[in-house]
Amino acid sequence: MSVSLQNLSASASDQPDTAMSGRPHWLVPALHWAMAALIIAVFIVGKVMEDLPRDQRLPVMGWHILIGLSVLVLFLPRMIAVFVNARQKRAQPPENAIKTNLAARIMQGVLYFLMLAIPLAGLTAMTTIGHNFPVLGLFSLPNFADNHELHELAENIHGTMATVLIILAGLHALAALWHHFVVKDDVLRRYLPGR
Ligand code: HEM
Ligand code: HEM
Repeated sequence: MSVSLQNLSASASDQPDTAMSGRPHWLVPALHWAMAALIIAVFIVGKVMEDLPRDQRLPVMGWHILIGLSVLVLFLPRMIAVFVNARQKRAQPPENAIKTNLAARIMQGVLYFLMLAIPLAGLTAMTTIGHNFPVLGLFSLPNFADNHELHELAENIHGTMATVLIILAGLHALAALWHHFVVKDDVLRRYLPGR
């Protein structure tokens, strides 16, 4: 269970009385929850879209692309926030330091990779269809090639990676709930607003 989470100096008994000292900068959880909501929403829209008849698919596809691109846009600020936060934590006294085990680091690396690779594969699929693609009348995705094979490949990889991300994120969420309700430590609480 603990595989998908940082193993913060985590058990409640390990921690000093100011137990939430390991709390990250508010921007880190804010971006985490915003992106988690967007990813779940874009996944559901993607699944709904797949089953729609062609004539109804276009506007839903527009929403899928818009939400999916917002995940891509938020990725860089999130990486910067996570990186700066980790540097600040390392500069703190050792009792406040965050220890992360290897398995947790690998899982987080996979989640970050998928959050970046999925929208990029989606973009590849949409820019190889042979014409520009209008998105809800707001802007158009450019066409770089008319390449049916690449389009199909990117679409398949995109769908598969999306399913893997949702499964891993589900395990990761279960691990967070396990920490909260069974281990009873601060791993989840540190990511929630309040004290
Ligand atoms: C699509 C859904 C999700 C993705 C992609 C995701 C991804 C991640 C990633 C990459 C981290 C590393 C730190 C960071 O970037 O903020 C993280 C941390 C965390 N996530 Fe999620 N997450 C998702 C949903 C959830 C849910 C639903 C929960 C709770 C039920 C949750 C609880 C946590 C907690 C508590 C941490 C902090 C772990 C620690 O510091 O040890 N996540 N998540
Ligand atoms: C994290 C972001 C995203 C997630 C989780 C996601 C998820 C999905 C899912 C679950 C499907 C259905 C696949 C299936 O059932 O086989 C799908 C289809 C698709 N998505 Fe995404 N998507 C994301 C972002 C994007 C972006 C940014 C674009 C384009 C710019 C895009 C383009 C597509 C295309 C072209 C399809 C195939 C549609 C069809 O077959 O008609 N996606 N996506």
